[in-house]
Order: sequence, then structure tokens, then C-alpha cells
Amino acid sequence: MTILGIESSCDETAAAVVSSAPRSGALRLRSSVVSSQVAEHAPYGGVVPEIASRSHIRFITEVIAAALARAKVSLARIDAVAATAGPGLPGALLVGLTAGKAMAYLLKRPFIAVNHIEAHVCSGFLAEADLNPPLLALVASGGHTDLIHLPRHGEYRILGRTRDDAAGEAYDKAAKLLGLGYPGGPKLERLARTATSSSRFPVAKIMDGGLDFSFSGLKTAVAMAVERADGTPKPALAAGFQDAVIAALVGRTTRALDRTKAKRLVLAGGVAANAAIRNRFAVLAKERRIRLVVPPMALCTDNAGMIAAAGWFAAKRKAFSPLTVPARADWKAGTAIEAVA
Ligand code: KG4
Ligand code: ZN
Repeated sequence: MTILGIESSCDETAAAVVSSAPRSGALRLRSSVVSSQVAEHAPYGGVVPEIASRSHIRFITEVIAAALARAKVSLARIDAVAATAGPGLPGALLVGLTAGKAMAYLLKRPFIAVNHIEAHVCSGFLAEADLNPPLLALVASGGHTDLIHLPRHGEYRILGRTRDDAAGEAYDKAAKLLGLGYPGGPKLERLARTATSSSRFPVAKIMDGGLDFSFSGLKTAVAMAVERADGTPKPALAAGFQDAVIAALVGRTTRALDRTKAKRLVLAGGVAANAAIRNRFAVLAKERRIRLVVPPMALCTDNAGMIAAAGWFAAKRKAFSPLTVPARADWKAGTAIEAVA
């Protein structure tokens, strides 16, 4: 089975091909092409939706062609087309979704509307082909921070999510406050690495015993520290911020592991590209003797390999979508996307 995946929910135009390995039948990534718009948005300090949509329109066709060419797969060999239908920027989503539907229609193949957050979890299955549910996943990106339990393939139970800013968004905002450019996550991480001391910032505690996150208080604490200008070096502020984010992520994940008794943990999303976060989770996994899967960097940040992978599992279940399926900017993982009439 060979699946073409398309992603355009935010600021990356991406296409990828996955297929079943000839002997084992296991999921295999054949190609993954990502065209990043970071440089186009950088002057504005964040993603500009209209620029994102226009850029997707400009590059989508050649990105899809490149993914097929790199996989050495002809259109006739595609068994189904999968595209992100949400969550994301509405205008951006529509470009990849419409391209995917058009291809499915012309090729007379089934179409699969993929949830971007569920796809981030699936990057774990791409990274390690022998990985299977039940498992726990922490998806931390620029738009989302979700703790998800997968009792089995295709079943996503949200245990906790952010109540305000996403972890990556907090990184980007803190980086802006520290005078670093966009995107801030990797820049803040590099600055923190040079620190010789670390500021103390509060870790938000939501006292209801739940598994939700909150990062907006931390952002305010960084803003106040910067305003105080008491001579604290910027690397110390960056390191303190990072320590607080890690404490929040590890704390909630530990609680979720207790609750689900999961023995496997997938760390996914753009924030999982952070080495300090990866290292702390490696320690947690060792302490608890669980299997930790952190996909390689290229599969952690937005890509279409994970969309194709989610499509591959959906195709195995014959969970196809009608071509009337809408783009849903706020599609929650684990819920059904309703088709418009
Ligand atoms: O998953 P992703 O590529 O896109 C979304 O779906 O949001 O995640 C992008 C987010 C950005 O907020 C970026 O600052 C953050 O991931 N990020 C990082 C690092 N690399 C990317 N955050 C912290 N440390 C990093 N090294
Ligand atoms: Zn993402």
C-alpha cells in the first residue's frame, strides 16, 4: 500500500510518500519534501496567514511532484491520498486539502482527511517501525501542547492540553522578549546552552490534579524579569525559562504515565527538536524503565511524512473521508471531523 501525504496547515508546504515494506509489510517512509516559509514570515516576527496561503499555492504542485519523484513512485501507484484538514490556519489548510482532494478525484482513489496533531503522534511509528500502541504521546508544537493516550491505532484520547499558550509559542514569545529573532525556539535553546547560572521562574501548577498545561504566566514572568533589567544575564533568563518549561512538561507527563500505566512514550512536535528537553525525557524514561521514542528532527517539526503515516493507518482501517470533508481550523484530535452536506 502506497500513500501520498500533503501538509499545509501552517508555514511549511510539504508532501511525502509512505508505503508498506515489501516483506514485513511495515510502514516505510519513501520520501519527504518540506518547503519552509520561515524566511518569508521572519520580517514580521510570526506567521502571517495571508502570506502562508499564497506561498502554499505557489509551491504545492512542485513539492508534491518532488515527493513523488524522490520516492520513484508514479501517480498510478498511489493507493490513497491523505491531507491535513485541521487544526491550522483556514486559508493555509485549504490549499493542501484541495490539492489532495483533486488528486484523489482524478486518480479515482480514496481520500483521507488527517488531523495534524494525531499525525504528530504517528511520527513515532515512522521513526520506529516496531512501535505499537498502547502508548502515551506528548505533542508539543507552536500551536499545541497535548498529552494523548493511544489505547490502540486510530484511537486518540486527550488527557491534557494547554489552557493558554502552547509550549512552542511560549518559546517563541520568550525569545522575542529576549531580543532573539523568529522562530525563537532554537535560538532560545542555543542561548540557554551558554548560561553559567539559571534564573528561577515559577512553574504553573493547575491545582485540580488534572493534566492541563499553562505557559502564559511563565511568559509574563520573563517579561517582568526583562523589564526589571537588574543585570541578570540573558542566558540565565533563557536557561530559567527552559527549566520551567521542562519541569511543566515532565511533571504532567509523569502524572499521565502513572494514570495510564503506559510503557511507551512518544515525544513529538517541533518542541521535541530541543536537545535539553530530549535529554530530560531520556532520564525520565530510564528512571521509569519505559520505551521513549523521539523521532529525528525532520519528523518532529512539521512534515508530510507524518500525514502520510496517519493516512496509511487510516487506509488499513478503510477509514476514508468523503470529498466534501471541510477544513477545520479547530479540529480536536480524537474527534470526528463532520462532513458538510
Ligand atoms: O511542530 P512545529 O514545526 O509546527 C507547529 O505545528 O506548530 O513546531 C514549531 C514550534 C515553534 O514554536 C518553534 O519555536 C518550536 O516548535 N521549536 C522549538 C525548537 N525547535 C522548534 N522549541 C524549543 N526548542 C527548539 N529547539
Ligand atoms: Zn505541527
